[in-house]
Amino acid sequence: MKQDQKGLYYVQGVPVPETPKPRRDPDPWEKTSVVGKALPRIDAYERVSGTAVYPSDVTFPDMVYGAVLRCPYPHARVVSIDVTGASGVPGVHAVISSLTADENIQWSYTRDQLEIPVKLFDTTCRFEGEPVAAVAAETPYQAWDAVRAIKVTYEVLPFIADEEKALLSGAPQIHASGNTAKKDFYNRGDVSRGFAEADVVIEQTYTTACELHTPMELHGCVAKWDGDRLTLWESTQGVFAVQARIAKVLNMPLAKVRVIGHYMGGGFGSKLRAGKYTVIAALLARRAARPVKLFLSREETFLAAGNRPPARMKLKAGVKKDGTLTALEFSGLATGGAYPAGGTALLDWQVRDLYSCPNVRTETTDVYINAGPARPFRAPGHPQCSWALEQMLDALAEAIGIDPVDLRLKNVPAFSQARKGHPPYTSTALRECLVEGARAFEWRELRSKYASETKGHLRRGVGVAAGLWFAGGGGPPSTIIVRFFSDGSVNLNMGASDIGTGTKTVMAMVVAEELGVRPELIEVEHADTGTTQYATPSGGSKTVPTEAPAVRAAAVSVKEQLIRMAAEDLKADPDTLVLRGQEVLSLRDESKKVRVTDITGLKKRGVIVGVGYRGPNPEDKVVNPFGAQFCEVEVNTRTGECRIIRFLAAHDSGRVMDRLTFDTQVVGGITMGIGLAMTEARVLDRSQTGKMVNRNWHDYKIPTALDVPADIVSIPIEIRDTEANTTGAKGLGEPVTIPTAAAIANAIRHATGIRATATPLDPAEITRLLTTKGGKQR
Ligand code: MOS
Repeated sequence: MKQDQKGLYYVQGVPVPETPKPRRDPDPWEKTSVVGKALPRIDAYERVSGTAVYPSDVTFPDMVYGAVLRCPYPHARVVSIDVTGASGVPGVHAVISSLTADENIQWSYTRDQLEIPVKLFDTTCRFEGEPVAAVAAETPYQAWDAVRAIKVTYEVLPFIADEEKALLSGAPQIHASGNTAKKDFYNRGDVSRGFAEADVVIEQTYTTACELHTPMELHGCVAKWDGDRLTLWESTQGVFAVQARIAKVLNMPLAKVRVIGHYMGGGFGSKLRAGKYTVIAALLARRAARPVKLFLSREETFLAAGNRPPARMKLKAGVKKDGTLTALEFSGLATGGAYPAGGTALLDWQVRDLYSCPNVRTETTDVYINAGPARPFRAPGHPQCSWALEQMLDALAEAIGIDPVDLRLKNVPAFSQARKGHPPYTSTALRECLVEGARAFEWRELRSKYASETKGHLRRGVGVAAGLWFAGGGGPPSTIIVRFFSDGSVNLNMGASDIGTGTKTVMAMVVAEELGVRPELIEVEHADTGTTQYATPSGGSKTVPTEAPAVRAAAVSVKEQLIRMAAEDLKADPDTLVLRGQEVLSLRDESKKVRVTDITGLKKRGVIVGVGYRGPNPEDKVVNPFGAQFCEVEVNTRTGECRIIRFLAAHDSGRVMDRLTFDTQVVGGITMGIGLAMTEARVLDRSQTGKMVNRNWHDYKIPTALDVPADIVSIPIEIRDTEANTTGAKGLGEPVTIPTAAAIANAIRHATGIRATATPLDPAEITRLLTTKGGKQR
């Protein structure tokens, strides 16, 4: 086969009617007719009517239920197990434990390079909730009865539930390598010189509590064997990641492991890979020779399915009178729990990269404690770091007597300082986010209005915080297939999961934009390793920027094929034809046209297949989203209650793909940030038992409708980014949740004069601060 300059293939001088790829990357959209609109979810009806089948809805007539016996101690050795009682419970089909050697296989909680290998049912339990045995029975009740009938003798070991104590000499060792999981350092410039140049230096310690993952759908799966083929319906952010992990752990060919996750009820980072529960379900199903459903209880999810690591952060900052930052010194201590799980992942990134500063030094220490492993949690590290940095900016502004927005504007960076070679961003609108946000919020007016109000116990205040997210999508790999049927309807085949963010809708909009097909006529086939194309997990706020360009490329390929077929019907040069609406027409002679569904080639073939790939991001530039948030609070200084009155979020995530899903991401991200600031904290009994004392939704408080203001305004700052990728979108899921908590704390400071450095800011904490620090002094 030969190829001409346009990239068309020829066989014996005849053009091949179908080429697998578009001839080149499509140009940036000039004007869009579908993309950017506020389109409701294409699967909204299924979701609200209950006809959508989530993994936890999957059922089979002969299905049995799994349940896991978990270690009740934070640190213990299993001395003996007696399962005879469990095997005798009616309805029990399988019991597995460290005694069933075939099933007690190797496991690691983390990626290969960080591995501390353990057994699936390890006889050393390093956190409360580690699996010790599992059963499958005909009803969930029988399964739990059987779990309770297993007799285990434990040797209880000394535990550590406190990050600082973990580093003391003589502390119980959680692993042979000691209690330090990881230490990282970063330095640029010379911080001592920077502090010497400063007019004001402030040092402060900030802490954030451990947040637990609380997705609506619990963690789990249904596992079913068909001969030597395993199918898993798993609530996951990435079916291919689960497939890879399970194939490796069970020593199976990838082709024999099929993972399906069409719908899933939230993940937020905790469902990026397979859990021990996935393996346990597969093993129980094999032993029972029945499909097994194994979904964790909320209590089990709290104990074992992941958390946002708690952080202790010390930040020292120097600033000149004119607002120039001269030095930032950060040290962070955090814990990923009992295994290497990224306790300090990205904990210092905001300090390194958000503001222009020549002298920066950071140090992070990740320690082991006897608690459940951390998981990525909507913008790993970033909201914690923002809690420290953005409150520090507020304190610096106050100390030198300038407006907090102005201090930030003074230090907006032109490039990524933390990366080698200081590459520029493909686009950055941090400045516009601050300026436009402040204007829309009436920031300056409220700032002076509330500062002059000194009477009454209901004190209002406003606060600001900004942020950046360190990623912005990328690829390859990203492969999409678009199939265009003879009646003009479309099947979009994509491996990525829609984790509840509206991904499917956005992708359908991209197809609609290129092919003029109404979104209702687009069916999305997705998140199934058996039938869809490889995709990396939906995380890192990258699903839209990673997959949408490949969707666009696939749709453009279909369009090119349609035009070439129409050219034959119209006896025209394909380069003079365009697809407009449902017609292909000639730009030279508009009477020369054919309805798409009348194109002979399409009718003959029945379906046209377009394959789309995504190229890599530009090598010498960085794709990052930015944002700024403004918050108004009212603090009752008698009770310590803080009411969040309203939020305004100005986000630069590149092109807005669907204005409705954009705005709902903003509402969701702020809700999650309110949880971090105000209500959420895992409580471990650090001295007596080491156990988690608030393992339910009564005692572990996530924000409710009463905690979240109705007045949340989203203002997209849409800078045309022609370099990030062929859609110009940069991702929004995580960026929103980064500055929220700090904006609240800064508003509380403005309202009351207290500096609240430790989450959660419940009424008890605010009252403590009001009484010990005297409150507002104006
Ligand atoms: Mo996200 S924390 O990468 O799901």
